[in-house]
Amino acid sequence: MKITQLDLKAQLPSIREELLHSLTVVVDSTQYILGPQVAELEKQVAAYCGVRFGIGVASGTDALLVSLMALDVGPDDLVLTTPYSFFATAGVISRVHAKPLFADIDPESYNLDPQQVRQLLTGMSHADRKRVRAMMPVHLYGQSAEMGPLMDIADEFGIKVVEDCAQAIGARYDFRGKPARVGAMGLCGCFSFFPSKNLGGLGDGGMVVTDDEAFADQVRILRVHGAKPVYFHSFIGGNFRLDTLQAAALLVKLPHLEEWHRGRQDRADYFDKGLTGVPGVGLPKIASRREYHIYNQYIIAADRRNELKEFLAGKGISTAIYYPVPFHLQPCFEYLGYKQGDFPASERAAATTLAIPIYPELTAEQQDYIIGSIREFYQA
Ligand SMILES: Cc1ncc(COP(=O)(O)O)c(C=O)c1O
Repeated sequence: MKITQLDLKAQLPSIREELLHSLTVVVDSTQYILGPQVAELEKQVAAYCGVRFGIGVASGTDALLVSLMALDVGPDDLVLTTPYSFFATAGVISRVHAKPLFADIDPESYNLDPQQVRQLLTGMSHADRKRVRAMMPVHLYGQSAEMGPLMDIADEFGIKVVEDCAQAIGARYDFRGKPARVGAMGLCGCFSFFPSKNLGGLGDGGMVVTDDEAFADQVRILRVHGAKPVYFHSFIGGNFRLDTLQAAALLVKLPHLEEWHRGRQDRADYFDKGLTGVPGVGLPKIASRREYHIYNQYIIAADRRNELKEFLAGKGISTAIYYPVPFHLQPCFEYLGYKQGDFPASERAAATTLAIPIYPELTAEQQDYIIGSIREFYQA
C-alpha cells in the first residue's frame, strides 16, 4: 500500500466541477486583481472567525509581515515568539529589522508556554521590556495556543498580539469564558491558504483578520504599496494582494471546511485509539480550554523517530518532520546569541516529532495499515 502524507487528489472529485466553474467566472470577468471574490472571501472568513474585518493577502507569510508593518515594528524592537514553528514566523520579524525574542513551548501542546513568557519578561530590564512591541503565538498543528494567559500577559505589559493562525483556521479556545476561534483573540490573526492547510487554495494565499478597524485600514493600505489614494504614499508597503482566482477557489471550499475538520477529527480519534499504549509513542494531546483541534497535522512524539520514519517509508507510508531545527539553532539566527540547551522543550520536539498522514478522505483500511506498521516497528 502507498499512503502519501497528504493526498489532495482524494478531495478533488467532490469539488472539481464547482472549482472550474468559479475559475471560469473570474477568467471571463477579467477582474483579476482585487475582484469581487476577494471582498466576498474577506467577509466570509472574517465572519467565520467571529471578527469584522478580513484583508486578503498573497500568503500566510505576507499576512504576518504586513501585520508587523501595520504595527510599525522596526529596528530596536523585539517580537516575542516560539522557537518551534515554520520559518515564516521568525523570518518576518527579521524582515522588518526587529529582533526575534524566544520563549520555550509547552512540551505537550507544542505551543508557546505562558509561564516561560512571563518569566522571560519579568527577568528583563525595564528598558528592554519596553522594546517588546509584539507577541506572535503560533497555533501549531491546528490547536490554539494558551491564549487566555498569553493575552493577560500581553495586556499587562502593553504588548500587541499577532496570532499566527496559518495551521489552525477554525480551531477554538475557551477565551475568558466564551468560545472563540483563533484569530479573534489577539489584535489580529494571520491565515495561510497554502494548499496543505485545512482551507487550502490552488496556490499561495493568506488573510489578516481583525476586529480593529484602524488596524484593518492600515493593512489594506500597506497591501497596495502603502498607497492612499492610489499613487499617493504616506507609507511604504508592498504588493501583498490575494489573487481573485485564489479567492474564487477558496469560496468554493469554505462551505466544506467544518465537514473537513470533522473528517480529520474522526481520523485523529481513530489514530488515538489504535496507537494508545504503544511504548515509545506519545500521542497528540488536546490541552484544557481547547474545545476544537482541527488536526492540520497529527503529530506523534516518537522514540527513534528517524528510524521509524525510514521504516514507514519502506512500507510505502510517507511522513514528515516538522521542524527538525528550532529557530534558535538556525545559522541565520546565530547573531541572536542563543545556544543548544536554551529551549529544551523545543529541542526535544524537533528531535522526536513526526507527522503521520491525516486528511478527511483517509480510509479506515489506510489507517489500520499505518497503525499496524507503527506497532510492528515498536513490536507492540
Ligand atoms: C505556522 C506557520 N506560519 C506561517 C506560515 C506561512 O504561510 P505561507 O506558506 O502561506 O506563506 C506557515 C505555512 O506553512 C505556517 O505553517
